[in-house]
Amino acid sequence: MTGTSEWQDRVGRSWAAEWRRTDRSFAGLTEQLLSRLAPFEFNRALDIGCGAGELSIALARSHPGAAILGLDVSVDLVAAATARGAQYPNLAFERADAAIWRRAGEPADLLVSRHGVMFFADPVAAFANLRANAAPGAPLVFTCFRSAAENEWASGLTRLLPCGVSAPEPGAPGPFAFADPDHAGGLLAEAGWQDIAFEPVDYAYIAGAGSDPVADATSFFLAIGPAARVAAELPPAQHGAFTERLGHFLQMHRSGDLVLFDGAAWLVTARA
Ligand SMILES: C[S@@+](CC[C@H](N)C(=O)[O-])C[C@H]1O[C@@H](n2cnc3c(N)ncnc32)[C@H](O)[C@@H]1O
Repeated sequence: MTGTSEWQDRVGRSWAAEWRRTDRSFAGLTEQLLSRLAPFEFNRALDIGCGAGELSIALARSHPGAAILGLDVSVDLVAAATARGAQYPNLAFERADAAIWRRAGEPADLLVSRHGVMFFADPVAAFANLRANAAPGAPLVFTCFRSAAENEWASGLTRLLPCGVSAPEPGAPGPFAFADPDHAGGLLAEAGWQDIAFEPVDYAYIAGAGSDPVADATSFFLAIGPAARVAAELPPAQHGAFTERLGHFLQMHRSGDLVLFDGAAWLVTARA
């Protein structure tokens, strides 16, 4: 599955090129995450695995008096985020491995992430490090996927591959590493976080839009997601057949000018 090293390389580059469509896929989730963050008061927020920066930018816009720092391990994503957020003087992005990075100066009083914390090779050590960067009592609020079975855009897609994609070990680094709340909650507790809670959040995962949403979603999933790497390595005949099956599958999820899936996430809260 996808680990930090892949984000530093090919996967980070693809996401940096595709941030408009990845942000679009998360739109319904982002809205719910931001409304959960709205009551928090903070001066120094840290966005972990910030990617192309949408969450950091939203916080910088809504809290002009607070300093927002987005951390990401991908040089390409940090460059994309920096360019997008250039107009906000209270916003900065830094390329760093959040598992080992140490903050200079005062600790963060809010830690957030939209799907950026499931890729650590040693999650207990990484979350202990994040706690060391947090002020006492600081909230941690992040989203992550529930199981692949509840996210058909992922499970359905991998079933279409001729060779399949072997199921990762439960809890292995990757998009579904925190699908099991008992397992993930145990890791957070072991790392010293308290008051840990998992709330299910459902949202519309937008895979394609526009005048030909199926073609849009097809090119999106050939670039991003669980089938992209395997599909890119298929011989031309198998690649053509896969793309055709993908088109049929996406057509079944077409609703007007959108291709939509049920997105299933956890909204996780904890306190340092
Ligand atoms: C699924 S993407 C989410 C990106 C962004 N939060 C968003 O919502 O668009 C996961 C992000 O975590 C980052 N990441 C993975 N491992 C990391 C690490 N050890 N330290 C910092 N960032 C990491 C990746 O580079 C990637 O940007």
